[in-house]
Amino acid sequence: MTDTLLLGQTLWFDGNPLVGPWADCARHDSAGGVLIRDDVIAAVGNGATLRRDNPQAKIVDYGRDLIHAGFVDAHMHYPQTRMIASWGKQLIDWLNTYTFPQEAKFGDKAYADAVAADTLDLALAHGTTTLTSFCTIHTESVDAFFEAAAQRNMAVVAGKTCMDRNAIPALHDTAQSAYDDSKALLEKWHDVGRASYAITPRFSPTSTPDQLTALGALWGEFPHVLMQTHLSEQLPEIAWVKDLFPQARDYLDTYEAFGLLGENGLYGHAIHLEDREVARLAEVGAAVVHCPTSNTFIGSGLFDLMGVAAAGIRTGLATDTGGGSSFSMLHTMAAAYEIGQLRGVALHPAQLMWLATAGSAQALRMEGQIGNLAVGAAADICVLDLASTRAIAQREVRADDIWDALFPTIMMGDDRAVRDVWVAGQRVA
Ligand code: GUN
Ligand code: ZN
Repeated sequence: MTDTLLLGQTLWFDGNPLVGPWADCARHDSAGGVLIRDDVIAAVGNGATLRRDNPQAKIVDYGRDLIHAGFVDAHMHYPQTRMIASWGKQLIDWLNTYTFPQEAKFGDKAYADAVAADTLDLALAHGTTTLTSFCTIHTESVDAFFEAAAQRNMAVVAGKTCMDRNAIPALHDTAQSAYDDSKALLEKWHDVGRASYAITPRFSPTSTPDQLTALGALWGEFPHVLMQTHLSEQLPEIAWVKDLFPQARDYLDTYEAFGLLGENGLYGHAIHLEDREVARLAEVGAAVVHCPTSNTFIGSGLFDLMGVAAAGIRTGLATDTGGGSSFSMLHTMAAAYEIGQLRGVALHPAQLMWLATAGSAQALRMEGQIGNLAVGAAADICVLDLASTRAIAQREVRADDIWDALFPTIMMGDDRAVRDVWVAGQRVA
């Protein structure tokens, strides 16, 4: 048994600050402590008390730095790391011009290994301890990602992206091969170590009804796994979906009709939802994922976070790299704040931090396991320096309270703010 006691300011949650008053949900201790035992959090409390009660523990004193759960990125595409920040296109052109040619390289296992390793290391450098990734159509890309995550002992969610039309020929599978490969990968990786498999149709325009039917049937066989896809991201995309599926009531219906709507469904973007779609997502208990840097970068629109939260829909936060323009969940929170402002809502730092940690964990159905400083949760932890640059430090020194001290780091911080990261109780070198 190894005990380590982290001392510093601590931040954790005991409720959802998007639905209750944030002050009732967010907990802060300016002289807190987190006791790590092996790979889990054994206690969270007053630092001096924990120190007195655990004299055997090795002490790591972070002073005024902020200790909180590692960030949880609830939707991203690791195969797009090499083409992040590609200029000048909106969704469909961006996919055709930049994304598909890049994804075509991932049948090469060595290439996939290198990008997977780089992406996970970039995530850790930015304080992100869990990634939820689309892979490519190639089984090699899935093996590469899960292998790289296992080497780092990271909790990750991923799946083979399925597409049997409207991409490029090199990226087309079939209804049958999508079913067979997804099933084999699910059986190979789901619940192995910290890996979770997600059934992954890219979005309804790139799957035939036959493929959607096959993947719906697979989900029916494994209803406890997540199913991730995209929903209502951009207006031309929605018009295209209506052309391709003339019988569908709306975009969500193109999933529901094929057994791809359920309580373990994770729908990325969900910006331009119709009232029926909001009501139906809430009714079935599905989750949506807000990808704000992507939504501004690709020009998609302004996600209605408060509307979705008021409807009772679980919501996570995500980078959506490489459609998203940053690996940083700090930048992602800043973009969520700015989109909120454009909708007339000022999100509180507690709400932003909740989205980036516990909210994403809840969307992934991993509440209690990751995304919070909670007894029994994995010791996946990020420590933030709240004065990491000259610009941030001169503002932070004037702060009235922890929220005023943290907000400049949310708005202006990057990987320089990440003082330390712990994964399953081990400090990341
Ligand atoms: N819709 C379908 N595929 C993608 C993708 O790779 N990125 C984004 N942002 N939207 C998508
Ligand atoms: Zn995406």
